[in-house]
Amino acid sequence: MASEIELVDIQAGYGRAAPVLRGLTVSVPAGTIVCLVGPNGAGKSTVLKVASGLLKPRSGRILVGGVDVTGQGPQRMLASGVAHVLQGHSVFREMTVAENVLLGGYTLKDKALIAERTALVKDLFPVVAQRWESLAGLLSGGQQKQVEFARSLMVNPKVVLLDEPSMGLDPKATGIVFEQVVRMRDAGTAVLLVEQNARRALETADLGCVLDLGRVHISGPAAQLLADPQLGELYLGGRPAEPTAAPKR
Ligand SMILES: Nc1ncnc2c1ncn2[C@@H]1O[C@H](COP(=O)(O)OP(=O)(O)OP(=O)(O)O)[C@@H](O)[C@H]1O
Ligand SMILES: [Mg+2]
Repeated sequence: MASEIELVDIQAGYGRAAPVLRGLTVSVPAGTIVCLVGPNGAGKSTVLKVASGLLKPRSGRILVGGVDVTGQGPQRMLASGVAHVLQGHSVFREMTVAENVLLGGYTLKDKALIAERTALVKDLFPVVAQRWESLAGLLSGGQQKQVEFARSLMVNPKVVLLDEPSMGLDPKATGIVFEQVVRMRDAGTAVLLVEQNARRALETADLGCVLDLGRVHISGPAAQLLADPQLGELYLGGRPAEPTAAPKR
């Protein structure tokens, strides 16, 4: 299957510091959720920043839909169909929910299309519709996250990069976000997901990649990674909830 986005042999880092990513290769086919797993500081957010053009790699290549887009900035990447929902909160607090969401569609020229997408995201996220005219800064953290998510969907992206989308959300809002991730996948979007709750994310994902020392250390079907007891201990906060029965000694 052709990959919607591919990062090939990426070296990347910050300033003069040693590289964070050291020969990282990862690809996400259309209609697939790939989950990146790794401890704090492993470079998960850095991978997403490279993928969305926020951080230029020192070497390596980035392909979107098979086209080499290495070195392009975030605006061009968004125009190429790559949307990035950043870790933490990034709504404009002094702007209304409406203004925040419509910013996501600023590359769209067609008014009818903007109206159609607006109706769609309002339907997906009722809180966005209910608080449409409110200042975004007056919403709770979890509600703000839903505004961000709605903003990223305005361009109907081919690739969605999600950095800890459930951070700070209650179980209901987390459920809504994961539902949307699955819907996007089913509609053919390529999703690269980083999630604090790696177990939950791998349960939703199709493929998983474990980052270690700036590279993909292990990759495979998400179900396979979930079932691996050693990975469970190291990265998933303990053993699987229902381990296969081991003989008692
Ligand atoms: N803006 C920055 N300037 C300098 N160094 C940075 C910057 N952002 C991240 N780093 C460094 O890069 C490394 C990887 O950070 P990154 O944010 O990619 O990790 P992460 O896997 O997303 O961690 P977390 O699970 O805590 O979100 C860390 O050592 C971090 O200190
Ligand atoms: Mg991070």
